[in-house]
Amino acid sequence: MASLVDQLSEVVGGAHVLTEADMVAPYCRDWTGRWGGPAAGVVRPASTAEVGAVLETCRRNGTPIVVQGGNTGLVGGGVPASATAERPGRPPLILSTTRMRGLEPVDTTCWQVTAGAGVTLAAVQEAAGASGLAFGVDLAARGSATIGGMVATNAGGIHVLRYGAMRQQVVGVEAVLGDGRVVSRLDGLLKDNSGYDLSQLMVGSEGTLGIITAARLRLLPASPERAVALLGVASTAEAVRALAELREMTEGLDAAEIFYQDGLDLVCRHFHLPPPLNTAFPVYLLVECAGRVRVADALVDALGVMGVDEHSTAIGVEPSSAARLWAYRELHTDAVASLGVPHKLDVSVRVDMLAELEQAVRRSVRRVAPEATLVMWGHVGDGNLHVNVIGPPAGDDTVDVAVLELAVSLGGSISAEHGIGRAKLAQLALVRSDDERSAMRSIKRALDPAGVLNPGVLLPA
Ligand code: FAD
Ligand code: MLT
Ligand code: ZN
Repeated sequence: MASLVDQLSEVVGGAHVLTEADMVAPYCRDWTGRWGGPAAGVVRPASTAEVGAVLETCRRNGTPIVVQGGNTGLVGGGVPASATAERPGRPPLILSTTRMRGLEPVDTTCWQVTAGAGVTLAAVQEAAGASGLAFGVDLAARGSATIGGMVATNAGGIHVLRYGAMRQQVVGVEAVLGDGRVVSRLDGLLKDNSGYDLSQLMVGSEGTLGIITAARLRLLPASPERAVALLGVASTAEAVRALAELREMTEGLDAAEIFYQDGLDLVCRHFHLPPPLNTAFPVYLLVECAGRVRVADALVDALGVMGVDEHSTAIGVEPSSAARLWAYRELHTDAVASLGVPHKLDVSVRVDMLAELEQAVRRSVRRVAPEATLVMWGHVGDGNLHVNVIGPPAGDDTVDVAVLELAVSLGGSISAEHGIGRAKLAQLALVRSDDERSAMRSIKRALDPAGVLNPGVLLPA
């Protein structure tokens, strides 16, 4: 009988089955360097039919598949389990969607576009922009994160408070389910109440139910005017209060982000940037408004009514000055990665609990990992704090458990936007009841009865 590699080569062509160690290695470790393990190889199908044939081949051979897009995920869901983790059976094959880069022309009547799973976010943004439209989700990994990965993780990013997360941008999805059946809802219908919404079931499923091959995406009118303000404030509570006032007084608030002086110092040091304001503040609130007319004036007027003085504020209206202010926020992820392998904990609470969460996290990390470096930032408008801890060994999850339990004790979630992956599998029971996890397992069994897709991600293998 032909080997697995021969069978896969028949399907996708020999050039797209990688087995040499140095070719396979980059696919085996995640962006943070914390997660990863050995794989049998990498296969790169180019169409839905090829994805189906690869899946069928793997099912016949009993080879698990790990689905991977841009490999920017932060919870280890797109890479194999570590060699030390319990891995019954053989090492998985990594199915990379990077060749599924078809992007159809933008539909300027329906304000939609169909993108292959491997199309990057930046490519969708560029195509939408060229047609006078925009895409509702944006995040710093835009150059590598793929539409398939973003649908699979229900990615959030910086505009959730105005446009929602990835779920709200998905009109329909095409996917090959774990058992080989194909779901194809790329017709662009905005209203279609004919039964279960299988497209939405794929959103946030983290590669455990099906392999997404394409998505039909909603687009928005572009905002010709944009203004960014960076405010230095005394505390998280003050940032939350300022945001509430701005929400009342401005139209078109499309981002509200928070970071702290230690994170800003790290970014400035690592990227050789001057500080954004002449005075240092404990906390920074970055807001952006976007719209058609008078956007900057309205933001400046609102800040005036709030009594914000010029020493504690920087305004960016020209694209280059707005981008300069955004860099202080967006470069946090890279700056933290330069310190070592981070424990990345992406938690959420109700916005009115954010200040309490921030203080409690500081106390908790000081208690369980006194030597560690803690850097936090987040999407303040969504009650979402990114807690990054550098110092504890990658395999020691004491600090992870402490922070996740804390978020839950304050009525929050263990995953605001990055997903569960392999990183938070053991803590899923903190936020999903026995009945809910059992229902999730039933759905998994119904769509992927052989358990071939992403075993050990989101649900136990
Ligand atoms: P991968 O990392 O390749 O995979 C992620 C998960 O999706 C895995 O479980 C994988 O199996 C599954 N998957 C991938 N493709 C498919 C497919 N075609 N079908 C089925 N399953 C699939 N995330 C946010 O939510 N908000 C942010 O603001 C944000 N900012 C980021 C900034 C930086 C600098 C970085 C490095 C990451 C950031 N992320 C953010 C995390 C990451 O970019 C998102 O999770 C993104 O959606 C992952 O896309 P990807 O193509 O890289 O997926
Ligand atoms: C962010 O908002 O910066 C991202 O979610 C990435 C991260 O948490 O590092
Ligand atoms: Zn984020």
